[in-house]
Amino acid sequence: PIVEGKPSPFAVPAGCFALSVREVQHYTDRLFRFRVSRPREFRFRSGEFVMIGLPNAEKPVFRAYSIASPAWDEELEFFSIKVPDGPLTEHLQKIREGDTILMRKKPTGTLVNDALEPGKRLWMFSTGTGIAPFASLIRDPETYDKFGTLILTHGCRLVDELKYGQDLVAALREDPLIGELVEGRLIHYPTVTREPFEHQGRITDLITSGKLFEDLGLSRMGPEDDRAMICGSMAMLKDTKELCLSHGLEEGANNKPAQFVVERAFVD
Ligand code: A2P
Repeated sequence: PIVEGKPSPFAVPAGCFALSVREVQHYTDRLFRFRVSRPREFRFRSGEFVMIGLPNAEKPVFRAYSIASPAWDEELEFFSIKVPDGPLTEHLQKIREGDTILMRKKPTGTLVNDALEPGKRLWMFSTGTGIAPFASLIRDPETYDKFGTLILTHGCRLVDELKYGQDLVAALREDPLIGELVEGRLIHYPTVTREPFEHQGRITDLITSGKLFEDLGLSRMGPEDDRAMICGSMAMLKDTKELCLSHGLEEGANNKPAQFVVERAFVD
């Protein structure tokens, strides 16, 4: 493959694409987003993840990243944390437009429409960068074919950390192609735990107390009408999964669609 931008002294490893960075946006000292070119032959399902690395080492370090852009997009988008001294993100956070990143060719993952039965409501429970796969799914018309209403919850420590999701939803509502489809069918519920905000507290506590459902004017989740996808830290996954089970939902997989699925927000 032809590597645009800075030349790398290292060859592109077998099974990898070398992709050109098109855009980088920093939100806080802990969060940023970037977009890269998409090879024509690269196919994935909205909600899947890939392995990402940098070409500036003999043995590049790879980490799993959910693709935040939908399957129809011409570019690929990623939403990343910056881990101090993190083997990959310490360097990745410095990328600029024109630089090159590596991406393994095979996408995979469980947060895909195929792993769920159709339903009236799809709950997308995320914390931190766990919003990334949902950024893909809420931009994919297929998700609106399969579920009546999408509820995207995003829990963060601080208000500034919500910005990626807020910008995303605002842009989607204005989108000339998919804006109309989204109208009245996408609910965004951001919540913050460490400073004052319109909605406060962990999503798990808001489910348990019932405040989430009260705030939205919706009934509690149940196996008949509701489907859920969960993406966040290990602790968040465990606790939210318990709540899905206690509401009578069954865990699904690609080869056995059911009522909820779980995937970890990988980089930590
Ligand atoms: P808290 O501030 O109470 O820790 P992190 O950046 O650590 O991944 O956290 C992102 C958000 O997820 C924070 O609002 C955090 O709340 C929340 N959180 C952490 N652990 C859990 C959990 N087990 N269940 C639900 N939310 C959680």
